[in-house]
This record gives sequence, C-alpha cells and structure tokens, in this order.
Amino acid sequence: MAEKPDHLATRLSHAARDEALTHGGVNPVLQRASTVLVASADDLYAPDAWTYGRHGTATHKALKEGLSELENAPCCAVVSSGLLACTLPFTAFAEPGDHVLVSDNVYGPTRRFCDRFLRRWGCEVEYFNPTIGGGIETRIRANTRLIFLESPGSLTFEIADVPAIAAVCRRMGVISVIDNTWSAGVFLKPIDLGVDVSVQSTSKYVSGSADTLGGALFTRDDRLAAKLRDAASDLGLSVSPDDAYLILRGLRTLPLRLERHSSSGLKVARWLQTRAEVAKLLYPALETDVYHDLWKRDFKGAAGLFGCCLRPDLVGQTSQFLDELKLFGLGFSWGGFESLVIHCDPQLKRTAAGSTRLEGPLLRFSIGLEDPDDLIADLDQAFDRLTRR
Ligand SMILES: Cc1ncc(COP(=O)(O)O)c(C=O)c1O
Repeated sequence: MAEKPDHLATRLSHAARDEALTHGGVNPVLQRASTVLVASADDLYAPDAWTYGRHGTATHKALKEGLSELENAPCCAVVSSGLLACTLPFTAFAEPGDHVLVSDNVYGPTRRFCDRFLRRWGCEVEYFNPTIGGGIETRIRANTRLIFLESPGSLTFEIADVPAIAAVCRRMGVISVIDNTWSAGVFLKPIDLGVDVSVQSTSKYVSGSADTLGGALFTRDDRLAAKLRDAASDLGLSVSPDDAYLILRGLRTLPLRLERHSSSGLKVARWLQTRAEVAKLLYPALETDVYHDLWKRDFKGAAGLFGCCLRPDLVGQTSQFLDELKLFGLGFSWGGFESLVIHCDPQLKRTAAGSTRLEGPLLRFSIGLEDPDDLIADLDQAFDRLTRR
C-alpha cells in the first residue's frame, strides 16, 4: 500500500493518531495551556520553541494534521472563526495603497470587512462579477495585490472559473484567495487548480454539529504561509483547545456526512423544482443550472446548501411560508446536522456590473441529515397552507 491511503475518508480516520498526540487513545488529548515550561534557560529563546499556549497545543497540532488531509496542502493556520480565515489574507498581504479585487458574491461580513476595515486601512476595493473568468485580467492594475473569490457564492451560487482566474493571477503576480467553505475541501481542491490560498469556515460542514466556531487557511507556498502565520501571531489570534478538539471530531466523519447532505440536497431541490410556487433553483448540481457544466468540470460533488427563488407574486408571503415550516430552523448558519432556511433578500448586495439579479424572493436552504422525505413533507404542508390563505 502507498504510504498514505488513497481515499480521504480513510486518511481522515487515521490522521493525527500519533501516540504523542493521543497518549494511546484514538483521539488527541485535550490539552489546555497558557503557561508552558521549557527544559532549560537556553530553550526560552530557541527559534521555533513552543513557549506559550497561544502558539497552540497538542490538540491544535492534531487538528492541523487532520485538516492537512483536506485540501492537498498543509493547513498553515487555524483561527477562531471562518470570518477571520477570510479576512486574515487581506491583513497579511495587502498594504496601504494596494488595490484588491473581490468577487461581488462574497459572504456579507467579508464584504463588510473590505468596505470598512480595508478601506480605512488605505486599500482600494473593487468588486467584480463572479462570472468574469479570464476577463479578470482587464481589472488588474500595477498595484493589485490580491483577488478574493467565493465559489459558489453562498447566497446566489454562481460558480467562478477558478482555474482561469488563478492562471491570470499567477501570470500577473497577484495572490489568489478563495473561500472554499461550500465544498468543505472535499468537493473542490482549489490549490490543485492553481489558487494560492484556500480558506474555510470550519464552523460549517467540517465541525458539522452547529456547536463551535473556527476557520482554517491552506497554502502550499511557504512564503505566504509564513506571512499568514505572522499576521495571526501579531494579532494574537488563538483557538481554544476545546473548539480545536470538536472541529477535529467533526472532521473524521466529514466525507460520510457530506454524501448524505449532497444526496438529500439534490432530492429536496428536485422536488422543489416541481412546485408551482418555485420560480428558480440556484444549485449547480442540477442539470438545469446555468453553472452546471463549470461545476461538473471542477467539483467532485455538491454540498447540501442551495438557493430557491419563489414566484415574484409570493413576495408578500415569504415570511408566512418560513413560519409554517416545522423541521427547518430559521437560522443564518449552515452545514450542521439540522436543516435551516433563511430569506436572503435583505442581505443581498451587488455593485459590480453584470452581477446576478434575481426576480422573486430568494430563500437559502441548508439540507441537514434528517430523512429527506420528512423535509419534503414539511415543505409540502407549508406550501399548502400558503395557497389556502
Ligand atoms: C461562505 C462563508 N464564509 C465564511 C463564513 C464565516 O464563518 P464563521 O461563522 O465561522 O465566522 C460564513 C458563515 O456563514 C460563510 O457562509
């Protein structure tokens, strides 16, 4: 057998099982530490010595070893939220006077960071249509430092031509970064496609239990990894060992859970397509989706998160419909065992020319691990009540 098993599920089960991390168990020890004692006075200032809890503990080391299996790149940093994983590359790489290009469909708080913090820091932020592909070249200036993508967009589900954008970035010396939370690093391997840095919120599919917050950053470039680690260290970022433990526990079962999220997502989405109340599904896994071919080219599967536009005339009944649902929670997160839904319109923000414009109220469903037939029955009864009013 090769040194490492071929399949991700096997590697995730066996990662970070070193005796030094587990003390003989199959899970790492839960090591809490601020103070760390070193063996001798010389060790206090030895380069790369472990001298303080903020540098991580055995539990963090185990988590990073496990995460390293995901994106075909070492996990260079774990941080305390997915939002921090998104914003850290800007803090690490962009300087006052730099220009950054950001996909118009990025997660709202990432956009808010760019509009507030980054602009105040003296960077120029420009949003581009997520479907721009290789055309991004025309937007690159002498001072463009970084391009940030999210594919698919987690509200509007556009798929970017990641290899084309990454190739332009490489040729023109611009750092490319992608928010890869939707694929959880299982279905899309951005670094294999030429992207410099991939980031994820591990609060979603990776942890899978809706009870912890975290983020992770991946790169194969040692120089970029060092800058990311320096930025994290300069800002004093750290993750609690308890959270690190929970995230690793979730990671072990990620491929299996994603299979279920994916098959149930597809089943529920196909059923929604048959409903007269539904105008459009935004889900690249569906053959009818405008991004299906691009998705199929680059992704190995689909997560259970998708959008659904109701008919425009139902706009006044959107909240009623959501309130009628019994099994879907109303909540902003996704990727957990529980199904969730939100109404997205109040948070849609687009400024780039040609970006997605939708007709009809947009809902976002996160399909959890319940039986999909129960979820469909719940949607059915909520639609029925709607039409009776
Ligand atoms: C696409 C995307 N990226 C990043 C984040 C931020 O993750 P966290 O909640 O862990 O900060 C979220 C959260 O919803 C998200 O949807």
